[in-house]
Amino acid sequence: MSIIHRFENFPIIKLVKQKWHLRTEARAHQRSQRRWRSDEIAPHLTWDRMMTGDSLWNLYQGHHDFQVRDRILEVGPGYGRLFRTALQRKISFGSYTAVELSQARVDRLAAEFPLESVLFVQGDIENWSNERFFNVVLCSSTFEHLYPDCRRALQNIHRQLSSDAAVFIDFIYSTESLRYFEADETYIRMYSHDELIAIFNACGYAIATIEECILGEGNYGPVKRYVVVATPI
Ligand SMILES: C[S@@+](CC[C@H](N)C(=O)[O-])C[C@H]1O[C@@H](n2cnc3c(N)ncnc32)[C@H](O)[C@@H]1O
Repeated sequence: MSIIHRFENFPIIKLVKQKWHLRTEARAHQRSQRRWRSDEIAPHLTWDRMMTGDSLWNLYQGHHDFQVRDRILEVGPGYGRLFRTALQRKISFGSYTAVELSQARVDRLAAEFPLESVLFVQGDIENWSNERFFNVVLCSSTFEHLYPDCRRALQNIHRQLSSDAAVFIDFIYSTESLRYFEADETYIRMYSHDELIAIFNACGYAIATIEECILGEGNYGPVKRYVVVATPI
């Protein structure tokens, strides 16, 4: 038996290990957000091609009848792909709030869309909050980058939902559960179907359906996603 194993149940050793674990996790979390807090050219945010939000809006509109009373929250708007398509389609809403980690992207979006009842705000969806409740949540191509997984964000959003809310969040199309940092430091978290159901349920959501959706043509082919459609329990 090694010396470390012999003492591993001592309270002081347990405490040191716990502190070490917390510090390592905090560093990994910071690392996972470094890219997103910064700035980059728009196509890099969507598989090196500019895309529209058309296929997603087809799906959203199939599940929700958008009205002027809707208070929409978008998470991680990037270069405004979903919002631009919403305007082109003349989607009705009462307010549209988009929370984005990158201040540079928020500044650009606010300058491009200086519209009443539309707010682009810098924040982290894991802890950002607002005094208003939302009844629609949209999020594309973002939750796979949340470290170590999307629980904190789902719980934080849940606290800000009206009881009749519709939540649309898409994920990497995957049959397995995987997590890793890419060479450029991008954190990737893939969820299996069953894992998504378990996490959403544990965070207080009922999943209405999980649908496949092709977002568009990326540099390496069609981008296929799982879109989770959920409601708060
Ligand atoms: C891959 S891009 C996708 C952009 C956009 N949703 C789209 O599909 O075109 C991910 C976006 O989410 C933002 N983001 C990442 N983590 C976030 C967080 N914790 N809170 C808010 N925004 C975040 C990034 O800054 C980036 O703009």
